[in-house]
Amino acid sequence: MDTIPVSFTLNGAATTLDLAPWTTLLDALRNHLGLTGTKKGCDHGQCGACTVLVDGQRINACLTLAVMKDGADIRTVEGLAEQGHLHPVQDAFIEYDAFQCGYCTPGQICSAVGLIAEGHAHTADEIREAMSGNICRCGAYTNIVDAVKHVID
Ligand code: FES
Repeated sequence: MDTIPVSFTLNGAATTLDLAPWTTLLDALRNHLGLTGTKKGCDHGQCGACTVLVDGQRINACLTLAVMKDGADIRTVEGLAEQGHLHPVQDAFIEYDAFQCGYCTPGQICSAVGLIAEGHAHTADEIREAMSGNICRCGAYTNIVDAVKHVID
C-alpha cells in the first residue's frame, strides 16, 4: 500500500505520520496515534462526536482526510488542559453535569471551545444553534448549553 508523509502540530507537538492518502483525520488520530478521546459515532458527518479543532476551527474529523491537514495546528480533547488545569469548558461541563453517557462529550467540548473563540454565540438560543451539529443521544442539551453559557458569561 502506498503511503505519504503527513506532518502537523498535534496538541502542541510536531507529529509526522506515513498514511494511506484516504485515511481520515479521525482514523489517523484514533488508530495511528492512539488518541481515542475523539470519538467515532456516525463516521458520516452527522453526529459531531469526532469534532476537533484545526487552526482553531471546529471540524468533523471523520469528513477530513488527514493529508489535507498537512502543516495544520490540530487540537483534540486530550490537548485542551494546560499546565495541569482543565480547560474552562471542561471545568464547566463538570460543574453543570453536562453529560450522561459521555460518548459525545469530547466533541461537545471541542465544539464549545471553537464556538466561544468564534465569538458570535451569546444567548442560549445562539449556543443551541451553533452547537446543533453535536448530537447527544442522552439528551443532556440543557446542561450542555448552561455549561457553555457559563463560560461565555
Ligand atoms: Fe464524525 Fe459523526 S463521527 S460526525
